[in-house]
Amino acid sequence: MSLRAKTNELKRRMSEAFEGGGEKATEKQKASGKLTARERILALLDPDTFHEYDLFVKHAGQDFDMDKKYLPGDGVITGTGTITGWPVCIYAQDFTVAGGSLGYMHAKKICKIMDHAMKMKVPLIGINDSGGARIQEGVNSLAGYGEIFFRNTIASGVIPQISVILGPCAGGAVYSPALTDFVFVVDKISKMFITGPEVIKTVLGEEISMEELGGAKVHAEITGNAHFFAESELDCFDQIKELVSYIPWSNEKKAEPFAAKAPKTRQYKIDSIFPTDPLQSYDVRDIIRAISDDSAFFEVHMNWARNIVIGFGRLDGQSIGFVANQPMVLAGVLDVDSSDKAARFIRFCDAFNIPLVTLVDLPGYLPGIDQEHAGVIRHGAKILYAYSEATVPKMTVILRKAYGGGYIAMCSNHLRADFVFAWPTAEIAVMGPEGAANIIFRNEINASDNPDQTRKRLIEEYRQKFANPYVAAAYGYVDAVISPSETRDLLIHSLRLAENKEDSRPKKKHGIPPF
Ligand code: HXC
Repeated sequence: MSLRAKTNELKRRMSEAFEGGGEKATEKQKASGKLTARERILALLDPDTFHEYDLFVKHAGQDFDMDKKYLPGDGVITGTGTITGWPVCIYAQDFTVAGGSLGYMHAKKICKIMDHAMKMKVPLIGINDSGGARIQEGVNSLAGYGEIFFRNTIASGVIPQISVILGPCAGGAVYSPALTDFVFVVDKISKMFITGPEVIKTVLGEEISMEELGGAKVHAEITGNAHFFAESELDCFDQIKELVSYIPWSNEKKAEPFAAKAPKTRQYKIDSIFPTDPLQSYDVRDIIRAISDDSAFFEVHMNWARNIVIGFGRLDGQSIGFVANQPMVLAGVLDVDSSDKAARFIRFCDAFNIPLVTLVDLPGYLPGIDQEHAGVIRHGAKILYAYSEATVPKMTVILRKAYGGGYIAMCSNHLRADFVFAWPTAEIAVMGPEGAANIIFRNEINASDNPDQTRKRLIEEYRQKFANPYVAAAYGYVDAVISPSETRDLLIHSLRLAENKEDSRPKKKHGIPPF
């Protein structure tokens, strides 16, 4: 056969494989508002950068007449490409081929691209759209998931791992995304659950739709399983591109720097954002925008545990992880979910050499029976652990309240913040003046002729004495009391100073965080 004939043969085989599950299955995929697996990869990657692997892999099913079936690519497309110039490894399950179900060779393809990502030290992106373990392949499908979960775990903290849920992701299959760093969901398209509505109805008699059980909004707002919510697949790909721009390729690198850009100070001016009344709330994201380059802030977990804000921005062109209490929601308290949310993000930034800026304004941990019984002790400890363990440059700015455990937990000097700045509006104490006066002056108040007046006087006395940054500054727990307008310049100065920061923790196999 001539070279031309052989090339034509290759093209014929390729175009047959490119048809995926065929016209009917593709039409069904489109009718449900979804792109095909191949379209997804091409839309996400830079044009003409996708290089496919294992297109001609054959499935290994023998039973239930599977040996007579042709499943192009065994229902998953794998390969490499770039996103805004950054190299990535990628896979996308093809629902048009046996419902994207995971059989032995399907899993082998995914494992191969995961191993490749680890060896090349580049991010891994997995697009999930699958009916789960391929029922006809029995234990080999389960083995495949096990191999993927193991690799997800070993890759954790070495390369960034991003999961995109663009269809069903059911049963044990949900645990691969759950082990990765960031999970994206798309409205009305993503569905994630361990057991579906049918099983729940049979076992528990409870009725619920797939959307209400495990739709995109549920995971972005209630469970916190998803970090990013998108209106459409294309919107989702834009968000992934933005995320990739803030993170490094692996734990051996820093995120690529950008050209530094001043904040949009006309729109975001600290003086007009930060209220003079200490009881008034404000949106801390506006403070972040007043500080960050070009006022850009890429928020993670935007709709879950909103009493804490986390996300990426830049200072002087360098990628930064921001963690900030949100006074607008529950006065910015720490609770079970916000502790989980912040702790995981801090660990991601630390693992991937992204400096942390913490903005503090909180009355402490949320009191209440629900929180205590939900394990606020165990969950709250995660944030202490994450900050203490982190060795990336850590810069803390105390804006207003920093009371009790909240003061310690929000990257205080004691958890080894490298720089702690406080605005003159900071209030650093064991608790707020009202609560404190009621406890320490109880006898004096009760014995007084006018308890209300005495209480007011003593609260004011306490406020004058302790509700300020100067007591902490007197002990050196705060490095400098600064005017708000100096914040950005000082953070940039600190960041430059910390460029060659060296810090280490004792050698150990691993710590035992309060998971
Ligand atoms: C084999 C499967 C499959 C599966 C779907 N298909 N899931 N084939 N194994 N797990 C096939 C269907 O037979 C069908 O083939 C094609 O994919 C499309 O599926 P439909 O049912 O027609 O699609 P749709 O109506 O959109 O429903 C999608 C679905 C449903 C909700 C995902 O297919 C479904 O409930 N599937 C089973 C889900 C499940 O229980 N999976 C096992 C989970 S347990 P044809 O030839 O007709 O086109 C698990 C364990 C993992 O995953 C453990 C890891 C620790």
